[in-house]
Amino acid sequence: AFAAVNVTIDAGKPGPVINKNVYGQFAEHLGTGIYEGMYVGTSSNIPNTKGWRNDVIGALKQLHVPLVRWPGGCFADEYHWKDGVGPRAKRPVKVNTNWGGVEESNAVGTHEFFDLVDLLGADAYVNGNLGSGTVQEMADWVEYMTSDSKSSLANLRRKNGHEKPFKVAYFAIGNEAWGCGGNMTPEHYTNLYKNYETMLKAPKESRPLMIASGGNDHDTKWTDVISKNAKGQTSAISFHYYTIPTGKWEGKGAATGFAEPHWISTLANTLKIDSMIKNNIAVLDKNDPEKKIGLYVDEWGTWYDVETGTTPGFLYQQNTLRDAVVAALNFNIFHQHADRVHMTNIAQMVNVLQAMILTEKDKMLLTPTYHAFHMYVPFQDATSLPVTVVDDTAYTLGETTIPGISASAARAKDGKLYLSLVNTNPGKPADVVVNVSGKQLAAATGRVLTATAMDAHNTFQNPQAIKPAPFSAKASGGKLTVTVPAKAVVVVALEG
Ligand code: AHR
Repeated sequence: AFAAVNVTIDAGKPGPVINKNVYGQFAEHLGTGIYEGMYVGTSSNIPNTKGWRNDVIGALKQLHVPLVRWPGGCFADEYHWKDGVGPRAKRPVKVNTNWGGVEESNAVGTHEFFDLVDLLGADAYVNGNLGSGTVQEMADWVEYMTSDSKSSLANLRRKNGHEKPFKVAYFAIGNEAWGCGGNMTPEHYTNLYKNYETMLKAPKESRPLMIASGGNDHDTKWTDVISKNAKGQTSAISFHYYTIPTGKWEGKGAATGFAEPHWISTLANTLKIDSMIKNNIAVLDKNDPEKKIGLYVDEWGTWYDVETGTTPGFLYQQNTLRDAVVAALNFNIFHQHADRVHMTNIAQMVNVLQAMILTEKDKMLLTPTYHAFHMYVPFQDATSLPVTVVDDTAYTLGETTIPGISASAARAKDGKLYLSLVNTNPGKPADVVVNVSGKQLAAATGRVLTATAMDAHNTFQNPQAIKPAPFSAKASGGKLTVTVPAKAVVVVALEG
């Protein structure tokens, strides 16, 4: 039986713009996320530009990646920027203590990172080291990157090959200060944040927007303490949440080969981010009614048990239709909070956690998550529209019930009206009747991502196993019904 759902879009009540940075990425020095996965060096046989793989860059460009966060994550609080500038052969080799204890060659440093964002046409989000650095070290880095003066640090940048200042759109002071970033209390961190922020000097017109490192999961204390005490000194507070099938760090669940209980628990767990965001926004609304401070979800995504046979510290995992559904559910939630959530960064871009791309030597594949990002490109900088979903089709398994259909709509920059529909039910298609206030709809055209198996995924042997297919629906008798297959993501443009 088909489920029946009514979706009504109020086109006359435009909401906030969905900042394109909601579709941001995160690339940490972790496993093969940067080295191998993206950066192979200029002498590699793999075709590259300034050391960055042409195949991977080409695919990422299709996603219109708006910004990249770098160099961590936990790595950021052990990173000393001076190790990563100057002649590569002379750069010190360090130990990446957080991620597998492997050697960090420092071959990718500040200049290489800016090559990457230039190649992608993306903005730079640099995460500074509060945990093991000093105020002076961080201030020097900001000066090195942003100063157009003839100071020694600016001249060192020129000597290292970059005449003009780099454009640092965003700069974060520390990461997960409650954990790997220093195990601090929010009060202690906030004092340090204010100290650092005061000392970071950049030309007024090119000063990066400063981001404070906030809390995670159900915690709102970090948002509260920072927004109360660092007002006027921060553009945003970060927030992290990872989706784990079992909800437990020990025994998280597998990326593939799972049964329906892990399908629904993963989706139910990911949907919890909605109330987490709401609770943090409620705190911000109290402490910052002027809405000067954004909530940036600068780490999110699925976290599974690592693939058998891979280095545990490298966080390498497969990526299935379930991940695409997770991504789409998160997008739909982020759109609803567009007035505070101006940025999110999925963890992470390549070969790490919920990646867009997996690589193996000179081969690469696009994951279902990549395809979800690609389908949602029209939502970047689109104007959100209120959507009401009347759904008699909650999806239940055992003790767990979640909504059957998630929907989001926006007026894109091309003037068209876009609708995304996610069917969480792995066994039941849904007939969705779409209404737009004050408008007669004629058709819906776009793409669908679905598969027979819940864990459908691409492999290096079969890299096209799951990919989007063309999708359309036509109105009949003045009514537009979009039939969304079971376990599917649909993005369509609505035509009047
Ligand atoms: O994305 C992996 C890690 O998860 C990040 O380094 C850290 O910030 C978080 O705990």
